[in-house]
Amino acid sequence: MTATNDFIPITPYTHNIEKGIFQWSAPSNIALVKYWGKRDDLGHQIPANPSISFTLNHYKTITSVAFEKKVNQDNWSFDLLFEGQPKEEFKPKIQKFLERIAPFMPFLKDYHFTINTQNTFPHSSGIASSASGMAALAMNFMSIEKALNPEMTEEYFYQKASFLARLGSGSACRSVKGNLVVWGNQENIEGSSNLYGVPFSGKVHSIFENYQDTILLVDKGEKQVSSTVGHDLMHNHPFAERRFEQAHENIDQLIPIFENGDLEAFIKIVESEALTLHAMMMTSMPYFILMKPNTLQIINAIWKYRNETKTPVCFTLDAGANVHVLYPENVKESVLQFIQSELVGYCQNGQYLCDQIGFGAATL
Ligand code: DP6
Repeated sequence: MTATNDFIPITPYTHNIEKGIFQWSAPSNIALVKYWGKRDDLGHQIPANPSISFTLNHYKTITSVAFEKKVNQDNWSFDLLFEGQPKEEFKPKIQKFLERIAPFMPFLKDYHFTINTQNTFPHSSGIASSASGMAALAMNFMSIEKALNPEMTEEYFYQKASFLARLGSGSACRSVKGNLVVWGNQENIEGSSNLYGVPFSGKVHSIFENYQDTILLVDKGEKQVSSTVGHDLMHNHPFAERRFEQAHENIDQLIPIFENGDLEAFIKIVESEALTLHAMMMTSMPYFILMKPNTLQIINAIWKYRNETKTPVCFTLDAGANVHVLYPENVKESVLQFIQSELVGYCQNGQYLCDQIGFGAATL
């Protein structure tokens, strides 16, 4: 599919269903090359540059959607449960998501939905649940559409699921399918699209199998500046255009690195991307800083450890103070020892989460 309108069903659904229920899990993901900035002139949630991410495995959202035909079809209606309990605070976000996806899902107003969602990561861990949450929700709505139109191809199913997830939260489109996912037009990556994420189709060296991501929870508080506001500050940002070009260059450089497993080169790009993301925040107007003193302590400790031991461990950051420590599985034992002895003290309540690369959403 190449255009937004390709995702509007043109023929009526072939099946009629009174009620049913689906359940999907979708993982979080961590970007190696960051999405930061949107092209609002091109539509909702169109990235200013392409990004590529590792899909995580353990940390995910599990969401079921029960649906039942209703009489009044003027508008949509839904109940929202979080861990089985009604959660009014989450409703506006879902309401907005439904508004965004409505043009592409003509069945929405025919049913009443009961959405029940839960996360496998700890409460208020500072881990963003919007990527996994929106992806899990999108998968369920696609399952309903597929039930109404069973001829749908698998390719369309996953592309459209990622397309819908993107409308909920940009990075969510990278949590649908694949262990390395590209989102955004990138000349050298066939099939890449601004509209949805695609599994990276190039060769990937075995060193990246089961790549580890240990998330150090530095600060679990509310962020002072939301991602949405941060993206917006890339408009009229003095370094924006150069930054967007750089993201293309970094993805181009990663393609051979994924194939030959050159971790030294991999680390340079990944750490530079993390610091560039935060440099963009520090040089926007208004400017802001999301890193905390302990974020820098951890970065320095990782650099020292890497220098001394030659262990290929590096960090990345998302839009917050937490640090993702990335390393291959073959050094897992020594890196975990290092984390426990040197880094845990910088974590809030000593908390950190261990994850590794996974494969995307799964039906339950
Ligand atoms: C820094 O996907 O959370 O994590 O599209 O406004 O929902 P919205 O933003 P979001 O932005 C994520 C930004 C990032 C980098 C990345 O994941 O690529």
